[in-house]
Formats: sequence, C-alpha cells, structure tokens
Amino acid sequence: MGIKTFMNFLPKDTNGCPFLLLAPMEGVGDAPFRKAIASIGGFDEAIKDFLRVPKNAHIKSLAKVYIANEIAPIPLAAQIMGSDVELMAQMAIELENRGALHIDLNFGCPSKIVNGRGSGASLLKNPAILEKIAKRVVEAVSIPVSIKMRSGYHDISLFKENLLAAEGSGVKYITLHPRTKVQEYDSSANWALIAEAKSILKIPVVGNGDIFSLNDALRMLKDTGCDGLMIGRGALINPFIFNQIKSHFSKKEYKSFFCDLVKYLEKYICELADDIQMRTKINKLKQIMSFLFQGNEILLKNRMAVLSYKGTELQELMDLAIPFLKEGFEKC
Ligand SMILES: Cc1cc2nc3c(=O)[nH]c(=O)nc-3n(C[C@H](O)[C@H](O)[C@H](O)COP(=O)(O)O)c2cc1C
Repeated sequence: MGIKTFMNFLPKDTNGCPFLLLAPMEGVGDAPFRKAIASIGGFDEAIKDFLRVPKNAHIKSLAKVYIANEIAPIPLAAQIMGSDVELMAQMAIELENRGALHIDLNFGCPSKIVNGRGSGASLLKNPAILEKIAKRVVEAVSIPVSIKMRSGYHDISLFKENLLAAEGSGVKYITLHPRTKVQEYDSSANWALIAEAKSILKIPVVGNGDIFSLNDALRMLKDTGCDGLMIGRGALINPFIFNQIKSHFSKKEYKSFFCDLVKYLEKYICELADDIQMRTKINKLKQIMSFLFQGNEILLKNRMAVLSYKGTELQELMDLAIPFLKEGFEKC
C-alpha cells in the first residue's frame, strides 16, 4: 500500500485544514461530553475512551458500551486496550460488527492497574509484542486500525523500535503523545519527538499533547510536520478550539457566542443519564465546569466559588456559574 493511500485516511478539509480528532478521555470525556461538544462541532472524528479487554473478557457483553452512531454524523472510533492477542482480535471483530469504522489500539495508558496486567503503556517495553497484537488486529478486521502511543515507558530508549513495530503491523497511522509512561502529565509534551516520528515513519503521524489554543495547534503543525491533530484537555477547557482551528484555514473569522457555551452546558446536562443520582450529576457538571474555569485568569480566580457549591440543584449550579463564565468569556 502506497503512502498516498495512507494519507487519504486523514484527509485535509477543502481549505487545507489537517484532520482534527477529539482525544479519548476516560471518565471525563464520556458520552455526555462527546454529545455536547459534537453539538459545537469542528472535529472530524472522535476516539472513544478505552475499552479494556481483560484476560477472561466476555467480548459480546463488554462491547455493548460502544455505540457507533453516538455522535453521528461525526464518526466515533472504538479504542481497545489489552495484551491477549486473540481476545484483542475478537473484540475488534465484535466492534466492527457493531458498526465501528475504525479501531484504535491503546499503547499509552499509564494506569498502574492496567500496566500491572501487561496492557497500555507497558507494551512499549516490548516492541515485538506490540507489533504482534497490532498485526493480529489489523488482519482480523476489514476496517482501518491505528495506534495511540506514548514515547516510551521509563524512557525513550525503545522509541524508534516501537514506531517501526507499529508501522510494521500494518496500522494506517499512529497518534503520538510524546511523554513517557512515567512522566504521566509532568513537564511539557516533547513535540520534537513528533517531528522525529515523522522522519522515521512512512505512515501518517497525528500529533497530540498540550494543544490548548489555535496558536499551539499551528505551532505543532509547523514544528513537527504532523499529518493531523488530536486534542483532549484543550477541548474541555475551550470547546470551540476545533472551530477556531478550522476557521483559521478557511480564513473566516470564527466568532463564538456566550449563548453557545450555555447551550453546550445545557446539552451536557440533558445527556446525563436519567438513572444516575443527583449528587453524581452535580459532580459531573462541576468536573466539566472545572475545565472551563481553567480558560483564563478571570475564570480561574472564580473557579473555587463554583466548585465549592454544596447544593443539589443543577439549575442552581448553572445560575451560580453563568455570570462568572460570562465575565471570563467576554474579557478573553
Ligand atoms: C482524564 C483523561 C483520560 C484519558 N483517557 C484516555 C483513554 O481512554 N485512552 C487514551 O488513549 N488516552 C487517554 N487519555 C490521554 C489523552 O487522550 C491525551 O493523549 C492526553 O491527554 C494528551 O493530550 P492533551 O494534552 O490534548 O490532553 C486520557 C487523558 C485524560 C486527561
């Protein structure tokens, strides 16, 4: 398969904007968040948070959490994480049967439990096993498979080997979050490694890590030459970030309105499941708001006033937060 075919998997839009992906974020970036941010739009695909494939996995019942058309018409890829080659392949087949158009393999999760079981980032210690798992999944399904990885486990000594193993497996592209497992979220993502991956690989590389603004996005594209961008926390802090990037390329000014931010929060509330307790709903709304309040200094100074809310009414929490959000939004 030629490079051209690979590149077609992450097409630029008609204005030359690179493919934009919403990152998987287990816990925070759940279905209500995805549906809320999809109502704003601007990204080309989202990757669902990891579906763990444990040793004794009952594939069919585990796979039910994946709903292919959750944010249609925006595609939602399924991400799987595990170390049992055959079970990973079976899970990929099941997800394809459930309508997935793309499978992503998680070789980056830093969780202690996950790594203790030989999955996630711990596979970066063994490029041969990484390649074996990815190859078997690629063979098992007819849809494209990609890999999301960190730059290494303890250090980057196997960085090149892991990249070549990933490419050798036949995946369509890799997404690189250039921090090691032990770095978790410390220091800055080392974007120079994304540029290095580009120089080593023929398949496309999606850059990920610490994109918090349009300028960060443009700088990552320029400094690394990556083929697409994946944004996680930056989209929680600023749900308009994808539209801001897209409109930069279309040379049209993108004006976000405060009412759109309110609609985003209302959509989030509306999508919280009916059967979860009010206390949980309040905590989830606070969690989403806590990211919005990291948006700028004005918001940051009012963050605790909102997060310390002790009541039990979603509307009351909204009424408390909205004036602060409005002030921060209008002065940014
Ligand atoms: C709360 C949280 C949960 C995450 N869950 C996943 C996950 O399920 N799968 C995955 O590959 N990465 C996961 N990540 C990593 C992100 O996808 C992303 O690689 C990382 O946050 C760096 O990108 P960012 O700086 O744009 O946030 C998670 C990150 C956060 C903050």
